[in-house]
Amino acid sequence: MQSPDIPTSCSIGTDVARAAGLLARGGLVAFATETVYGLGADALDVRAVARIFEVKGRPRFDPLIVHVAELAWLERLVRSVPENARRLIDRFWPGPLTLVLPKTNLVPDLVTAGLPTVGVRMPAHPSALDLLRQAGTPVAAPSANLFGQVSPTTAQHVADQLGSRIDYILDGGPCSVGVESTVLDLSGLFPTLLRPGGLSREQIELAIGPLKSAHAASNDASPQRAPGMLSTHYATGTPLVLARREDRLPDAARIGLLAFVPESPLGRFAASEVLSPCGDLAEAAANLFAAMRRLDAQGLDLIVARPVPGIGLGQAINDRLQRAARRDARPSSDRAIEPVEGLAAPDSPHE
Ligand code: TXA
Ligand code: MG
Repeated sequence: MQSPDIPTSCSIGTDVARAAGLLARGGLVAFATETVYGLGADALDVRAVARIFEVKGRPRFDPLIVHVAELAWLERLVRSVPENARRLIDRFWPGPLTLVLPKTNLVPDLVTAGLPTVGVRMPAHPSALDLLRQAGTPVAAPSANLFGQVSPTTAQHVADQLGSRIDYILDGGPCSVGVESTVLDLSGLFPTLLRPGGLSREQIELAIGPLKSAHAASNDASPQRAPGMLSTHYATGTPLVLARREDRLPDAARIGLLAFVPESPLGRFAASEVLSPCGDLAEAAANLFAAMRRLDAQGLDLIVARPVPGIGLGQAINDRLQRAARRDARPSSDRAIEPVEGLAAPDSPHE
């Protein structure tokens, strides 16, 4: 929940050299990427990486994404870069695409939760690239929020949740994409979409052909997909339900509306947020998490969210809304994912 009045004890600034120096000395630095803010530590420093898990309250079975600024670093982190990975890298890096590939021994097991694979991405935000280059090391970074909560898309969001526990926040302004990277597993026989995100499935399929989805793959008990698969995430403190316009509203005193496009009349709602006045999915993604936080800060009894069209970035938005609507954080392997009526189940229950 947003609490803008709480002072932060760590500094926020735009000093890349200072942030890089802190990373190099084992510090924790939150930094802007084009997707969401990350909570970074030197990926090769096990003690620093352990602090990420502590500060976030993140279970150690949930692997971290490693961020690089140079392809030379990728070559040191993964055993080989297959042809389809090369094609995607040429087309979409730097950008919101994480590739999961077999790891080398250089990558600590703590980073990958003991998996033989590592997720790597090259962020597109200029200050993130600058930070990675100056730090001179790959940087492990999950989203810079407390585990299970809404991801931050501004420096202030990070300060509100983690300000007193980390060393520096590198402010790069509001994130332009607004949802996390797409996670694609290229370590198996078929390219598998583990998490829909800032690069659409359609764009990836145009480049390398059809993808398998982790949802379809969930019956093969592959250990790569067991960790980190929690079906509840992006949780607001206020209960959130997904409902279309024609659905009957649940009984609750003060209801807030998270709408894709403007709606009227709004009489039933005590507060409302519109993700994109003109119905643009990229704009909606960029506004999603900040709008969820604003509604969450209003002391409502319930947030009603509208599903968005399930194409392009809409898949990532609906995935985040569906996870936000789940209040039971048991690993999804413990139970079936019940899709919201009329919506496909999330491709995979990743953070
Ligand atoms: O956009 C993003 O990806 C942001 C920014 C900061 O880069 N990072 C992010 O990290 O969203 P995080 O930790 O919140 O989500 C990473 C997801 C997790 O669900 C994790 O399970 C999955 O990526 N992941 C990482 N490494 C993996 C691996 N080796 N195999 C399968 N899944 C992996
Ligand atoms: Mg996250």
